[in-house]
Amino acid sequence: MNRILKWIAITLGVLIILVALTAVVLNRWGNSRLAAAPVVSIKMVEVPTDAAAIAQGQRLAAISACIECHGADLSGTVFLDEGAIGYIPAPNLTSGQGGIGGAYSNANWAGAIRHGVAADGRTLVIMPSYHYANYSDSDLGALIAYLKSVPPVDNDLGPRKLSFTGAIIFGVLAYGDWAVSQIDHAAVGGEGPAAAPSPQYGEYLVATASCGSCHGEDLAGNPGNDSPKGPNLTPGGELATWTEADFFTALRTGQTPDGRELSAEMPWRGYAQMTDTELGALWAYLQSLAPKASALVE
Ligand code: HEC
Ligand code: HEC
Repeated sequence: MNRILKWIAITLGVLIILVALTAVVLNRWGNSRLAAAPVVSIKMVEVPTDAAAIAQGQRLAAISACIECHGADLSGTVFLDEGAIGYIPAPNLTSGQGGIGGAYSNANWAGAIRHGVAADGRTLVIMPSYHYANYSDSDLGALIAYLKSVPPVDNDLGPRKLSFTGAIIFGVLAYGDWAVSQIDHAAVGGEGPAAAPSPQYGEYLVATASCGSCHGEDLAGNPGNDSPKGPNLTPGGELATWTEADFFTALRTGQTPDGRELSAEMPWRGYAQMTDTELGALWAYLQSLAPKASALVE
């Protein structure tokens, strides 16, 4: 009897040590993958300095929701602070104290926005560069022109710090979700479709405005829990009964045709800056989609 107990205790002890060792190995692996992203060839863009380009860049920072995560003055926000995962700031993008703006070259901006890699080589998590990878060279140039022009704000949020389990979750289990692994880096860049109320231009805007982050990548609704649960935007959803005018009103005022006010989770205030051509293109694209049943689980 005693001998059996002894063997059970030894087996359990060995198992516990093996599990702990595996966790340590996974933690180290996760941390190293997060600290050093794969080397990608960064596609350069020309960055203009004229006022018109800077104004276009400011609009893009609103439409692409940079300001939702990095703050209205781009001085950064604490995106996530949870014991189980860790501390992840959306950094201060200005050239003020604690900001990255002063040290970022044009190539560094392009690398973070269109390739998902920070200037210090770390894998960017959360930051939706897999959508921004679609940016045309001229729009990216304008966005960078604006980012370089924003007034410096002092706000030192400190570095990203993942917990022991956070490094395993983010660096191993969810690693494939981060932009750098999703992007076809060789295909990044180019001209982008002409600005016209066409489905092609609408598809470009859906990508760069990140609609898919909350409405699902196929726009049939987001069933996941990591982003807000945006409803089905295909003609199989509620938009089937909307007119184009209803759509313009919703994106410019937050009011739906059935009298609801859209919640603040839907960043329509940014989209309110879209031109008639841009909203028309979005509508044309959404209408061109095959109707799908809602993927939302109520
Ligand atoms: C959903 C939230 C979110 C949105 C939207 C977003 N970011 Fe980020 N961004 C983050 C987070 C979080 C990080 C830090 C990630 C990390 O440390 O792994 C980050 C990192 C960055 C970095 C790297 C900074 C550094 O530490 O070197 C840059 C540059 C950046 N974002 C620019 C932008 C721009 C420009 C836009 C809009 C086109 C944008 N971000 C939109 C969340 C966001
Ligand atoms: C950060 C998350 C997020 C992003 C990005 C986002 N949405 Fe939404 N959207 C939502 C949520 C959540 C709702 C539901 C709001 C409510 O019912 O109060 C919504 C609602 C809507 C509605 C109303 C639909 C209905 O049936 O009532 C439209 C239209 C819409 N979004 C279009 C868009 C378009 C177009 C884009 C991209 C240009 C976009 N959204 C990007 C979160 C988002």
